Amino acid sequence: MDVLEGLRELQARRATAAGRLGLVPTMGALHPGHRALLRAARDRCDNVAASLFVNPTQFGAEDDFAGYPRTWDRDLEILAAEGVDFVWAPPMEVMYPEGPVATVDPGQLATVLEGKARPGHFAGVATVVARLFDQVRPDMAFFGQKDWQQTRVIADLVERLEPGIELVVAATVREADGLACSSRNVCLDGQGRRAATALYGGLVRASAAFEGGEEDAEALREMVRTTVASEPLARLEYASVADALDLIELEVAREPVVFSGAVTVGGVHLIDNIVVGPELAREDGTDGTGSGL
Ligand code: PAF
Repeated sequence: MDVLEGLRELQARRATAAGRLGLVPTMGALHPGHRALLRAARDRCDNVAASLFVNPTQFGAEDDFAGYPRTWDRDLEILAAEGVDFVWAPPMEVMYPEGPVATVDPGQLATVLEGKARPGHFAGVATVVARLFDQVRPDMAFFGQKDWQQTRVIADLVERLEPGIELVVAATVREADGLACSSRNVCLDGQGRRAATALYGGLVRASAAFEGGEEDAEALREMVRTTVASEPLARLEYASVADALDLIELEVAREPVVFSGAVTVGGVHLIDNIVVGPELAREDGTDGTGSGL
């Protein structure tokens, strides 16, 4: 497995990657969710690349960029074990050279939910993802459903700027107690770890009620709020029942719908979602490709 840090090396390696190239963009601190993305890429592509870059522009003032977990050596072991062909690990000055850098407007989808809770976050994500696509030139790119809004923002970006790239969204991988795998989980202590499951509990309750016939979206949001409120260590930031594609809040819940929320537990920001809709949840753990987005 080649680990590349310079644009020239990357371009040379890209030129030798015959057939379809799949890219799994990451900020490192890899977990089973990333492994699932790498396997989805391996199944569909001739060559698999992963990027390792902790992107400062998507962290807000309150986010601790410096404290984001960094497990470089272990990450490289995981990437090699998953059969990755090459890793793109640009230093800061390669990704963001001195001087003006074109930023990407993340569009309307970025103004709600996480975009509202973390101003500037999606501009940072859209900018770095556009740069990664431009640098690596993949045929397919793989993202996790845990960051549902991110997948919608990137789908919009691809439609506007990089129409040749096919997106695959892989199902959220969960711990045994339901907590969505996230690089931030290692920042939780024992009690926080237990408290963090309240969000998923609330989302399961609301989505089950919807599937049982409850259509009042506000009543469904309230189920998430009350479930999280029963856990004193978890502070709810928002509970949402929205159209899964345009992320507009619903009054009457109908498919495709995304139940989502964010909590803060011991200073750690965690998000989760459940998507209900015919094309959006397939048995094989992916929601299909760009066509389903
Ligand atoms: O999902 C992530 O890990 C990041 O937001 C991404 C897509 C790698 C961009 O930095």
